[in-house]
Amino acid sequence: MSQILPHGGTLVNRIAEGAKREELLNVAKGLPAIVINAWTVSDLDLIGVGAFSPLTGFLNEEDYHSVVNNMRLSNGTVWSIPITLSVDAAKAAELKSGGRASLVGEDGVTYGILDVQSIYNVDQKHEAVNVFKTDDLEHPGVKKLLERSSTYVGGDITVLNRPQPEKFQEFYFDPAETRRLFAEKGWKSVVGFQTRNPVHRAHEYIQKTAMEIVDALFLNPLVGETKSDDVPANVRMKSYLALLENYYPANRVFLGVFPAAMRYAGPREAIFHALVRKNYGCTHFIVGRDHAGVGDYYGTYEAQDLLKSIPAEDLGITPLYFEHSFFCKSCGNMATTKTCPHDKEHHLTLSGTKVRALLRDGICPPPEFSRPEVAKILIEGMSEQPVG
Ligand code: ADX
Repeated sequence: MSQILPHGGTLVNRIAEGAKREELLNVAKGLPAIVINAWTVSDLDLIGVGAFSPLTGFLNEEDYHSVVNNMRLSNGTVWSIPITLSVDAAKAAELKSGGRASLVGEDGVTYGILDVQSIYNVDQKHEAVNVFKTDDLEHPGVKKLLERSSTYVGGDITVLNRPQPEKFQEFYFDPAETRRLFAEKGWKSVVGFQTRNPVHRAHEYIQKTAMEIVDALFLNPLVGETKSDDVPANVRMKSYLALLENYYPANRVFLGVFPAAMRYAGPREAIFHALVRKNYGCTHFIVGRDHAGVGDYYGTYEAQDLLKSIPAEDLGITPLYFEHSFFCKSCGNMATTKTCPHDKEHHLTLSGTKVRALLRDGICPPPEFSRPEVAKILIEGMSEQPVG
C-alpha cells in the first residue's frame, strides 16, 4: 500500500547504530564539545529520526536566511521554522567549517556529532519579526530566541544517543514506526492532531468531525518544552488516556507523543506542525482557531490563511480547517457558527484563565466544556510537580 511521502521525498535517518556508533563515540571524545540544552537535544533527535525531514542537520547559513525570509529551504522546499544551533562566541572560535564537534547534553551524555558546514552571526530581531511577527520580549518564543547567542552553527548531524523519556515511554514512536503501524492497521488516511493542552470538548468535536471522513486519528500531543503555565505533559498524558478509554473507538485512534518544544509561532508553526505530521505518516492535519498561538499575537484564523497560501503540492499533507467550536445551549450540542444559528449568549464560553481558576479550586468545569474524567485528572494534577 502506498503511503504519503515524507516531506522532501525521503525519510531522513541519521541515527548511528552498532559498530558505526561505537566508532563515532570514540571520535567524539577528541572533538570540541558543544553543550546543548534539552530543547536542542530534542531538535537533534527529531532531525535524526526524520521527524524534521528533509532536514539532515541544523540549518546552515544559506538555508537559515532562506527559511527566515521566504519560508523555504534554499532548494525551494517549504520550511517555516528555523531549526538552529546557537553557540557562544568563545565556542564558535574553537570550531571551523569542515571540522566536527560533539553535541553533549547538560547531563554529560554525548547525543551526537555535528559536521560543521557554516558558522554565522544572525540578526535575531529580524528572525523574531519574520518568524513570530513580533520582537516583543513578552512573547515566550521571542524571549527564548533573544536569550540565545546570535552565533549559529549549521551542518549535518549524526545521533549517537537518544534522550530517554522519564515516563510514558510506550507512547514514543519514531516516524518510521508510526508509518509502519498505520500501514499494518490498513489506514489509508490518518488525521494528525497537535495539542499542548488537555483535550476539551471543542478539541474532541473537531477531532471527531474529522474522524467521520478519514480512517483514523493520530492524537499527537506535543510533550517537549512548553511555557510554565501550560498543563504539564505528564498530567496531560493521563487525561488523554482517560478520554480515549471512555469516549473514542480504540481501533480508530493512535496516541503517540511529539517530543518537540513549543515555539508559539502561530501561523508559521502551523505549517511546521503539518509538515512534521506528514513525516509521521498523516495524510490530513487539523488546524483550528489560533493554532500554536499565544496571547493576542495572531489573528484567530491567521494560521489557516498562511497555510492556504502554500500551494497544495508544496505542502503534500491536506489541512482540515475548523472554526472556533463551542457548546451551544440551544442546539444542545457542540457547534461552530457554520452549523449553529444562535447568538453568542447561547454559547458556553470559558476562558483558559477561568478554567484554571476552577480547577485550582477543585471544581470541575461543566461537562459541556470538559469530560468529567479529564477534569478530575486535571484537578489532581494541579497539586503535582510539573515535569516536562
Ligand atoms: S496548540 O498551541 O497546540 O495549537 P491547542 O492545544 O489549544 O493549542 O490546540 C490544538 C488544536 O485545536 C489547534 O489546531 C487549535 O487551533 C485547535 N483548537 C483549540 N481550541 C479550539 C476551539 N475552541 N475551536 C476550534 N479549534 C480549536
